[in-house]
Amino acid sequence: MSLIFACVDIPPEPWVKAIKAEIPDLTIHLWPDVDNPEKVEFALLWGKWDANLNRFPELSALLSLGAGVDHILTLENRPPNIPIIRLGDPALRTGMVEYVLYNVLKFHRRFPEYEEQQEKSLWIERSQTMPYKRTVGIMGLGSLGSACAKTLVGLGFDVIGWSRRKKTINKVGCFYGEQGLGLFLARSEIVVCLLPLTNETRGILNTTNMQKLPAGAFIINAARGGHLIEGDLLALLESEHIAGAALDVFETEPLPANNPLWSHSKVTVTPHVAALVDFDSAATVIAETIRRSREGRPLLNVVDPVRGY
Ligand code: NAP
Ligand code: GLV
Repeated sequence: MSLIFACVDIPPEPWVKAIKAEIPDLTIHLWPDVDNPEKVEFALLWGKWDANLNRFPELSALLSLGAGVDHILTLENRPPNIPIIRLGDPALRTGMVEYVLYNVLKFHRRFPEYEEQQEKSLWIERSQTMPYKRTVGIMGLGSLGSACAKTLVGLGFDVIGWSRRKKTINKVGCFYGEQGLGLFLARSEIVVCLLPLTNETRGILNTTNMQKLPAGAFIINAARGGHLIEGDLLALLESEHIAGAALDVFETEPLPANNPLWSHSKVTVTPHVAALVDFDSAATVIAETIRRSREGRPLLNVVDPVRGY
């Protein structure tokens, strides 16, 4: 039994070490070096690449090295009918909650304005809003979105969320479906995108939808660059309908040096680091998938390829 590690730009050594510590008898090949392709049962995948997985006739699961699986669903020549597993690593929730909380608090407590003032040595006290009077809208109430929503509720924010299906989360105003989107956006003073990238969600942060946000709203996109139309955001920042944005993900990554978002005074850019995987906790989750598959037990975190997440 073996696994092929096929992750673009990810140094394999710590992963091999962490997974082998969990399952010592698992052979791990590094793409493209495989002696016995017919023995490969698992593929651990990340990033955009053009490798042909049909080389491995015995593949029994395609594992994502992240929560997102858009990179697997868009693979050319993806072998059909093989379960795709998203990484259900609790460490991702920890990282995402920290990233979202940091940026929500930054906007809520007007830190961009204080930073601007400091550059000009200006001592100006600005008004403060109580968290219960600040509405934070979370797009996507899955593993990451619901963890962020619950943390913000714990801090006293007025939290609302939007998902595909109807949900109930304590103290979170839950909206769902196309019919719920407009109402959700109209209330979101700070909107956080934590949706998977699918045919339905691509480009969802566009002019029409961002105009539905209250004037002076803030955008936090920690999901995928494909959710946000960058040109639409730039225009709405220019018109001051949007007051600022924290962006961790971009249509093109790495973000090209000449992209205007880099130098925009109202935009904070981070290099797709909102929630990084932790070797040890991710290896435990990956090993559990392999064990379940070996033992014929039901797999967890299986993606629906039609739904796209
Ligand atoms: P998840 O558990 O699969 O949750 C997805 C949520 O989005 C669900 O609530 C789902 O609704 C909702 N959704 C999907 N399609 C929708 C639609 N058409 N309309 C409305 N709601 C929709 O995903 P997750 O683990 O929270 O991760 C979310 C995304 O975060 C990942 O796909 C990945 O792209 C991104 N991510 C980024 C980083 C980073 O470092 N920047 C790290 C990890 C993940 P239902 O509840 O009704 O199904
Ligand atoms: C990171 O972007 C992930 O999908 O885990």
